[in-house]
Amino acid sequence: MVIAPSLLGCDHGRLAEAAASMERAGADWIHLDVMDGVFVPVLTFGAGTAGSVCRAVSIPVDAHLMVERPSVLVEQFAAAGCRCITVHPESSEKHLDRLLARIRELGCLAGLALNPATSPESVRWVASRLDLVLVMAVNPGYGGQEFIASTPGKVREVRGILESCGNRSAFVSVDGGVTGSNAGLLAEAGADMLASGTYVTGSADPARAIASLRGRP
Ligand code: DX5
Ligand code: ZN
Repeated sequence: MVIAPSLLGCDHGRLAEAAASMERAGADWIHLDVMDGVFVPVLTFGAGTAGSVCRAVSIPVDAHLMVERPSVLVEQFAAAGCRCITVHPESSEKHLDRLLARIRELGCLAGLALNPATSPESVRWVASRLDLVLVMAVNPGYGGQEFIASTPGKVREVRGILESCGNRSAFVSVDGGVTGSNAGLLAEAGADMLASGTYVTGSADPARAIASLRGRP
């Protein structure tokens, strides 16, 4: 299980330090929540800050773009050093297939994040373009929200669709409300990456929290 702490709840004046400390605590990836104040009400940070985070760690950084116009930002986040760029089909992007291809052309892994109300079927016709599917277990915008209980079922469906399309290598990740209590269910359902904010970065012992998400408390 790949564990990707989300830095959303950390001190945003010290995100690079927070990322380095998560790497020391055993994180496999860093999950960056990029919000534009339009796709979601909150505004976080841009590619400059993502670059500082990328330079502070040796593990991959995923830019989860909760933005209305992802196509104008992907070049910047690739240049910042993000290993993966994850976009939402609910954004204003009309040509998702082309955008996902562009992310790979930039040398990054291509991720697709599905809001809770978005059908897992939206993965099918871009399955061959995907390195990661991020199943949202909360409505995006805020950390610390309650995990939506139907998420493991959706993970199972996403994994099934990817397999039926011949994509056996893409990560299926879950983001939002992920804790030691639901990580096992998510793993059983086919998730192989967990993005977790409050449970890890708000913990007095992030290393222990990361280990418990992996199933090795
Ligand atoms: C929600 C973000 C998540 C969130 C995770 O909009 O995409 O990454 O910060 O934080 P927790 O684990 O606290 O829900
Ligand atoms: Zn996220």
